[in-house]
Amino acid sequence: MELKFILLLIINLIMLLSSTVTADQYVRPLPRKNLNIPWPWDSKSQPYPQQVHISLAGDRHMRITWITDDKHSPSFVEYGTLPGRYDSISEGEFTSYNYMLYSSGKIHHTVIGPLEYNTMYFYRCGGQGPEFKLKTPPSKFPITFAVAGDLGQTGWTKSTLDHIDQCKYDVYLLPGDLSYADCMQHLWDSFGRLVEPLASARPWMVTEGNHEEENIPLLTDEFVSYNSRWKMPFEESGSTSNLYYSFEVAGVHVIMLGSYADYDKYSEQYRWLKEDLSKVDRKRTPWLVVLFHVPWYNSNKAHQGAGDDMMTVMEPLLYAASVDLVLAGHVHAYERSKRVYNGRLDPCGAVHITIGDGGNREGLAHRYINPQPKWSEFREASFGHGELKIVNSTHAFWSWHRNDNDESIKADGIWITSLISSGCVDKNKHELRSMLMTP
Ligand SMILES: [Fe+2]
Repeated sequence: MELKFILLLIINLIMLLSSTVTADQYVRPLPRKNLNIPWPWDSKSQPYPQQVHISLAGDRHMRITWITDDKHSPSFVEYGTLPGRYDSISEGEFTSYNYMLYSSGKIHHTVIGPLEYNTMYFYRCGGQGPEFKLKTPPSKFPITFAVAGDLGQTGWTKSTLDHIDQCKYDVYLLPGDLSYADCMQHLWDSFGRLVEPLASARPWMVTEGNHEEENIPLLTDEFVSYNSRWKMPFEESGSTSNLYYSFEVAGVHVIMLGSYADYDKYSEQYRWLKEDLSKVDRKRTPWLVVLFHVPWYNSNKAHQGAGDDMMTVMEPLLYAASVDLVLAGHVHAYERSKRVYNGRLDPCGAVHITIGDGGNREGLAHRYINPQPKWSEFREASFGHGELKIVNSTHAFWSWHRNDNDESIKADGIWITSLISSGCVDKNKHELRSMLMTP
């Protein structure tokens, strides 16, 4: 009898162990090393453009950014809808910067347009080098955004970029921490070369993280590399800083906030945010999406509470404005919340997603607070990327794709209903009006 009991116990133990292995068979990967992306041309090709990337620059316009080693290289872009036939030309501006002993190349920013929606354009930068092609976003739904923060430039970054490339996105949203250059300026150049195949073909809209700051007191200006290289449409959206801005695309109003710019109630950023929210017309843009770097809802032990100050100031305003979705990075893992406000479940609150899982050299944040908070619906420490397909004014499908080694596996997916369709925009409009009118 006793022997039978022991045998049963052993069998149960084996079954328990095997089920544990099955439920958690995905082995978390180690960080991968930085990639070395060499300059592709020979020394005679100095005027050739490199690190080409594009970004939305107001309605039907696109900013083309590239760098040349040659300081005399011109800043015009020729473009058209047929390969090799450029029937339009735009002249741009240029800048450069010094950082300790490093001098940047000539950084060109040229806005082209007006462009047709959902159309392929072929373009050449500065009259030399290869032809690039880009596709403009659609004018209306559906539209697909690819999302991943904290990219870096490792083997995992390459894996994430390959998966994003497969997903046929219209616009890429990056909630901070791009190159992980961390003061080594040549790493900004190699990052530019790594992302060029994707970033020259679809608009990349970014906001800053802590790794963009690169501030050495008394010696360098903060964000000098980031602001020089990744100019976003802040002037087009009435902002005075490249660290926060907004844009509209296909029925979505996207606000890119700055976790590393002043955000208190008397700050320029807060004043600009109120002004920007006052211009949002939910009939024209039924969806309202906000990005910033440091998450407000985070049950990972990494960076716990780091977003609390900004949340205290800004969450009531974003709630009154009925923000549908908030995307953040910083924590190197993935987490999705239920609709939440002020720490409690709320059908009119935003869905908060932390997606700092692009693949940088610092690796993953594995440790979580337990028990899992009620607002937290899905969390996993793996590299990957997100896809936000907004189907119409009422429905969007969010999915998260884990880098299962080098294969993209959909690990999370959920339909999200817009707050305009659930009556929250109407319910909160008086509160919003009074907050926007408060000086
Ligand atoms: Fe960060």
